[in-house]
Amino acid sequence: MKWFVAALSLVSVGVAFVPQTPKPMTPAAELGTAIPGLTPPEQKLFNSGRQLFGKVWLPQGNPALFNGRSCIQCHSDPAFGGASDNVFNHVFIVPDENDVTGWRVAPWRVYPRGQILPTGEYEMRRAQSLYGLGLLEAVSEEELAKREDPNDANKDGISGRLFRYPDGTVGRFGWKGNKPSIESFTHKAFELELGIKEGQGTDDNHLSPERVLAVAQTMRFLSPPREEVLNSLRAKGKELFTKIGCASCHTPELTTGKSDYPSLANRVIQPYSDLLLHDVSRGPAQKSPEKGIGKREFRTAPLWGIGNFTGPYWHDGSCESLEEAINRHEGEALAVTQRWKKLDAASQKALISFLEGL
Ligand code: HEC
Ligand code: HEC
Repeated sequence: MKWFVAALSLVSVGVAFVPQTPKPMTPAAELGTAIPGLTPPEQKLFNSGRQLFGKVWLPQGNPALFNGRSCIQCHSDPAFGGASDNVFNHVFIVPDENDVTGWRVAPWRVYPRGQILPTGEYEMRRAQSLYGLGLLEAVSEEELAKREDPNDANKDGISGRLFRYPDGTVGRFGWKGNKPSIESFTHKAFELELGIKEGQGTDDNHLSPERVLAVAQTMRFLSPPREEVLNSLRAKGKELFTKIGCASCHTPELTTGKSDYPSLANRVIQPYSDLLLHDVSRGPAQKSPEKGIGKREFRTAPLWGIGNFTGPYWHDGSCESLEEAINRHEGEALAVTQRWKKLDAASQKALISFLEGL
């Protein structure tokens, strides 16, 4: 009887105060399509930028200085909105006191692998897939911040942190985890990859604010990849993934918070990332031109969909296989990598099989 009275009184103070149980997220069967069950207005937003994502744009200024002509050029492996296996950004870095990060990239350039490059300070960046981005955006700052441990207070050797701008805004996108939203990344992508800023261009090549927003909306509602059903091998791999400590950074499950879009709010998702910055590299610290982010700090790569992508892996595309990428982890992940190396061949195979099914 007591619970009944309690339930009634909760209802009487207003249902809005009762936290809802998060709903599981069932990804679309086909990659490159929308989250299933969008509301009609959300579906309209998803549709609004699909064509623009594939549209060929004319850069403003010297075309030789820009990377691509369309978003899809680097985001189509294995389907619409995916990654790229053969196009890389060479990010030429110029210190810039006027930029909040203390640096700017100017301009990004792309070269097929193996081609001889001009001299200058640059870093390589592989294109990531864009699946599930709207859900990652809808994870609340509190949900991410509770996993931060910047001074390694729990002494497990792992010290993740969020990138924070001076006004408190947190970053979560890009390899450096410093872009706060899908819209901010979309502006930068148009400007740096395609050489066209909002407001520039004429006629069909005009980049209006509505067009930038439409492209961002399409990415926002792209479904995350669907994980394969666990067989006994993959189940063993999943268990090892947690047991040896991969899950300390590649968080298997996050819950999204509030959102303007009902389909993105309060969902349980499996991105296999904490979206925090970690230092998992080796060697002495390099001189860093970036204010606020170490040169060796990168966001934990979300592993959802990794099995659909043929590689290469790592932020600079320097790893040909999943094994190579795992072996590359040092720094904060050193103890975990040592545990991986001690696994017998069958156990390593199980863990790889688990990753291949993501
Ligand atoms: C020449 C290749 C290329 C083109 C063209 C390109 N991108 Fe990208 N994209 C990349 C690379 C490389 C990264 C990783 C950048 C980084 O984080 O340093 C990336 C990352 C992204 C991300 C962040 C994903 C994440 O997980 O955080 C978004 C969003 C994105 N691109 C959107 C776009 C949009 C929109 C366009 C078209 C306006 C576009 N890209 C055109 C190469 C490209
Ligand atoms: C201390 C945090 C941490 C731990 C522990 C960790 N990772 Fe990572 N992982 C990262 C970060 C950060 C990156 C991105 C590194 C980069 O590209 O420079 C990454 C990248 C990867 C990639 C490449 C993804 C891509 O898109 O290229 C794979 C695969 C991966 N991790 C698997 C694992 C596995 C399996 C384990 C356990 C054996 C593990 N990681 C343990 C933080 C971690």
